[in-house]
Amino acid sequence: MTILITGAHGQLGNELQKILEEGASERGILPLFYAQRMIVAVDVNELDITSSDAVDSFFTLHKPNIVFNCAAMTNVDGCEGNEEAAYLVNAVGPKNLAVACERHGARLMHLSTDYVFDGLGTRPYVESDVPAANTAYGRSKLAGERFVLETCKDSCICRTAWLYGYAGNNFVKTMLKLAREKGQLTVVNDQVGNPTSAVDLAWQLVLLAASEETGIFHCTCNGDAVSWNAFAKRIMEKAGLAVEVKACTTAEFPRPAKRPAYSALENRHLRETIGDSMRDWKEALDSFLEHYLEQERRQ
Ligand SMILES: NC(=O)c1ccc[n+]([C@@H]2O[C@H](COP(=O)([O-])OP(=O)(O)OC[C@H]3O[C@@H](n4cnc5c(N)ncnc54)[C@H](OP(=O)(O)O)[C@@H]3O)[C@@H](O)[C@H]2O)c1
Repeated sequence: MTILITGAHGQLGNELQKILEEGASERGILPLFYAQRMIVAVDVNELDITSSDAVDSFFTLHKPNIVFNCAAMTNVDGCEGNEEAAYLVNAVGPKNLAVACERHGARLMHLSTDYVFDGLGTRPYVESDVPAANTAYGRSKLAGERFVLETCKDSCICRTAWLYGYAGNNFVKTMLKLAREKGQLTVVNDQVGNPTSAVDLAWQLVLLAASEETGIFHCTCNGDAVSWNAFAKRIMEKAGLAVEVKACTTAEFPRPAKRPAYSALENRHLRETIGDSMRDWKEALDSFLEHYLEQERRQ
């Protein structure tokens, strides 16, 4: 079995490559389904998913059986300033992969986001809720979802949120850096969501890919949805940094792209099918910080 990971240098791609190459992660050992596997992990320099010709030639050469599409333009404000570029990577790219997967009989695991919703909800969004994106990033990701669902029968859309991992930059690393540099933090307390570890997401994705399930799945860490401010406080507490985390509002911290006020997701489809393996966000964060801070000490 050949497994293709696109966007392999990103937070999730990196974690997926690690678990598939090592055969295990802190979450468990890979199912027997993966006993005979070859991993082809590429990023934009080796496979630019926006080129249908490049995607088609790549499939002809490597003949993947499962594709994890982790490639994306994830800079939400960058997308707002260049919706055309966002559409190309987040919508046309997945379409190219979906066409190739359908043609070559491959299974497509495509990643999406809580930003497909408008963020005006009052309870966690479930998969059957009607999306209504109101940012360029959200619109481009929603278009990508639709292309995949329309084009590739054997596909899953996995929506995640507030992702952090060992590779790349993310909120957890930024908070640690700013806390050490400035000794205090000011973080918004009126945007609520689900902090999600790339370790847990990668594990859940390999389990889902090994099943025969298709359709839309919400895949975020469990536990109560929290504000960025509460998330930052937990990071400081667990990292042993005695730093004050002041609260501010979104209005006091304007950004080019409108942030959803409430974008919590419920993993209902997972629970009703293969089971929800995502840990409570606090447990996953504590484990991440333990390993990440240990890595820092050793460097
Ligand atoms: N990060 C989050 O908080 C978050 C939240 C919800 C959903 N998601 C979704 O989860 C998935 C993984 O996110 P992530 O945080 O792991 O993303 P990431 O760290 O930004 O990684 C994305 C990777 O894709 C690469 N890429 C960009 N354009 C490409 C192209 N045309 N062809 C091939 N590769 C390309 C990027 O390269 P460059 O860095 O060189 O551009 C990067 O290495 C994405 O679908 C994202 O939309 C993420």
